[in-house]
Amino acid sequence: MQGEQLTRVTEVVERPTATRRWAVVGLGSRAELYVEALTDPARPDVELVAFCDSNQTRMDVHNQWLAARGGGQPVPTYPAAEFGAMLRRERVDAVVVCTVDSTHDEYIVAALDAGCAVVTEKPMTVDAQRCQRILDAQRRTGGSVTVTFNYRYNPVHAKVRELLADGAVGTVLSVTFEWLLDVQHGADYFRRWHRDKQRSGGLLVHKSSHHFDLVNWWLGDEPETVYADGGLSFYGAANGTRHGYRREYARAAGSAEAAADPFALHLADSPRLAALYLRAEHEDGYHRDSNVFAEDITIEDDVAVVARYTRGARLSYHLVAYSPFEGYRVAFNGSAGRLELTVRENEFALPPRSGGARVGLAPGAVDRASNNRALLTHHRLWQPPAVIVDEPLGDGHGGGDQRMLDDLLGGRATAASTGPGADGLGFAADHLAGARALALGLAANTSLRTGAPVRVADVLTW
Ligand SMILES: NC(=O)c1ccc[n+]([C@@H]2O[C@H](COP(=O)([O-])OP(=O)(O)OC[C@H]3O[C@@H](n4cnc5c(N)ncnc54)[C@H](O)[C@@H]3O)[C@@H](O)[C@H]2O)c1
Repeated sequence: MQGEQLTRVTEVVERPTATRRWAVVGLGSRAELYVEALTDPARPDVELVAFCDSNQTRMDVHNQWLAARGGGQPVPTYPAAEFGAMLRRERVDAVVVCTVDSTHDEYIVAALDAGCAVVTEKPMTVDAQRCQRILDAQRRTGGSVTVTFNYRYNPVHAKVRELLADGAVGTVLSVTFEWLLDVQHGADYFRRWHRDKQRSGGLLVHKSSHHFDLVNWWLGDEPETVYADGGLSFYGAANGTRHGYRREYARAAGSAEAAADPFALHLADSPRLAALYLRAEHEDGYHRDSNVFAEDITIEDDVAVVARYTRGARLSYHLVAYSPFEGYRVAFNGSAGRLELTVRENEFALPPRSGGARVGLAPGAVDRASNNRALLTHHRLWQPPAVIVDEPLGDGHGGGDQRMLDDLLGGRATAASTGPGADGLGFAADHLAGARALALGLAANTSLRTGAPVRVADVLTW
């Protein structure tokens, strides 16, 4: 039954592999994962040939890191305005898009029009118009777009999909999903460009697109109607004042007020962050360490979403960005039982300047020193529960990052095990999966504005 449902939205993604010349656009934090992978001698089918970014300093830093790792010669760097020229001059076959979310569409469309395959970071984009441009360009060119929903590649998430496809809980009738971002990682979205809804789409787009993609993928279904309630409840100037957390400073660097603020990120404490951001800000004024209790935050930090899927399953989802610890719980209630996944990513969050284990960790990285663990339990009707998984998480989004790279870039021994997936349906997410995940977030954003339930088809079609 579920197996039939899952095949309905099978995604066929052409893997952009086989001795291809790759460029990376957007050389911030996330790009490092791709730069490393594209220069890994264990991946002989791919070659890194160029960088493009609006900030020259950050490209230079990535080139320095590349050389320091013994990853080869520095690659040519191009300013944003010369993206098209770069594709031609460097004979680029495939592009990784790692820029600020609201700019993804520009590079995806230009790359497709130049005949390149595209691997884009999530979210695919931030609004319906931009999404339509991408879908039109893909249709016009027939090109390949892969959205890097790395959470799909986390083995415990793949196990959930496999069990649901095998009918472990019968027909899925409802899903409850709670995701908690802690006051270290969660706060990070409020320090920089993510806090501007125009640039990130808000957390319902920027962050929840991962979670909505997982639900779409797990169920093999699409959302139909969405209702949401939420707001800025913890961060922001008024909340900070109300709860007694606000200190008077604009950004942490150079501020005495920020020195003892547990919510402040001190770029100078980390050689990596200082090189990538502090010493690059003279070019574009990008402050990576803004006060999270500031006036100009336009995104939500606490949202509840209720969605109905086309085959009738109900989703109840809650995202909180100010939790003491990080983790999530998702449960599938079905006609034959319940499948429940609980993931704790840490015991509690430490302030960035605590000298603790999480100092300098990239957002989303797993703190191995803390008590991280995944527990997957299968409850059949009238039977004692069976523990399917009870083990520590892997690094890099539960091990998902490396498996995703193996799938997209090939060349490593583990690639075969992650290839098309145990259920034969594939892990790689295409432009349609990108649109489906975005649609739920956009419909939820619309519902936040109007206070009414929203039909997904009224917001975005694909
Ligand atoms: N899948 C994941 O788990 C995951 C994790 C982190 C980030 N991401 C995604 O990766 C992307 C980058 O995030 P990040 O944390 O590295 O951000 P970042 O701010 O560190 O880097 C963004 C880079 O884009 C550049 N840039 C901004 N506007 C540009 C433009 N118009 N043209 C060219 N370059 C431009 C900036 O100069 C910067 O170097 C985002 O889309 C984010 O959602 C995904």
